[in-house]
Amino acid sequence: ADVPQLSSTGLLPGGDEIAELVGLAHARYAEDGAGAVADYIPILAEADPSWFGLSLVGVDGRSASAGDIDVAFSIQSISKAFVFALVCEELGHEAIHDVVGVNNTGLAFNSVVAVELNGGSPMNSMVNAGAIATTALVPAADADERWQRIRDGLSRFAGRPLALDGEVYRSESFSNHRNQALARLLQSYDRLAIDPVEAVDIYTRQCSLAVTAADLAVMGATLAAGGTNPLTGDRVISVETSRDTLALLASCGMYERSGEWLFEIGLPAKSGVSGGIVAIAPGKGAVGTFSPPLDPAGNSVRGQRACAYLSRALGLNLF
Ligand code: DON
Repeated sequence: ADVPQLSSTGLLPGGDEIAELVGLAHARYAEDGAGAVADYIPILAEADPSWFGLSLVGVDGRSASAGDIDVAFSIQSISKAFVFALVCEELGHEAIHDVVGVNNTGLAFNSVVAVELNGGSPMNSMVNAGAIATTALVPAADADERWQRIRDGLSRFAGRPLALDGEVYRSESFSNHRNQALARLLQSYDRLAIDPVEAVDIYTRQCSLAVTAADLAVMGATLAAGGTNPLTGDRVISVETSRDTLALLASCGMYERSGEWLFEIGLPAKSGVSGGIVAIAPGKGAVGTFSPPLDPAGNSVRGQRACAYLSRALGLNLF
């Protein structure tokens, strides 16, 4: 009720107003101690639970930020949104619909049961099984080329070269038995386009790319702008692929909490277990948040609250 209302229609408001709002959103939740840092990937348990960064980028390239926006963290599941976009751009709407699917599983992001319950379908590209299947679809002659294409593609969304966090990659490679099982399960259903060991390795690399909250906001703003990076002017994907990506994020981006998120916040979004969230306001801009403590579904607690606050204050809810 005490959220200031700046604009209900049109583009995001100008510099001072937006900077003040982003500062208010940060201050409001900085002391919020709810949630727990992920520890199923050992290195993630070392994250500082007080880290909290908030960045907003408009489709016109204007930005505002507060808090720890320079702290780099592994992108984790947020990579799924952008690898999906790259594959959808290359193979088209129908292929992704037929091969992977676009419906929510209603189950946890790493669920094996979800695959079994659905006749071997990975269901959608935002859960681990579907993301591994999607990564396997990146057209390439070999593993090196496939990895380069993913890294280059995500870097174009961010408008700067993204680098692998080797420590996260190694930590996750030693502990990703469940993802290896999911890939083998997909292989048993003839649902994986490449060797399962390679698919999981490249998926683990893409999850280990280091980003900041500011990078996430630029990546999201590229989707908000219909596929053109607002900072570099680079057309990364088509308007149609941006629309497909945002539709999928609306239904599946926040895992089994996607319905509640849409009900409360009304924006397509994607979260990751290291504590990032990107929320996209189509035609307007995007919010990138980073704060490691998560709720039981794996979504950053402060990030969700800050996105809810900004969505309300800026009149961003699509509905
Ligand atoms: O495969 C995994 O489990 C991680 N690399 C990514 C999972 C993730 O970020 C889910 N997020 N909520």
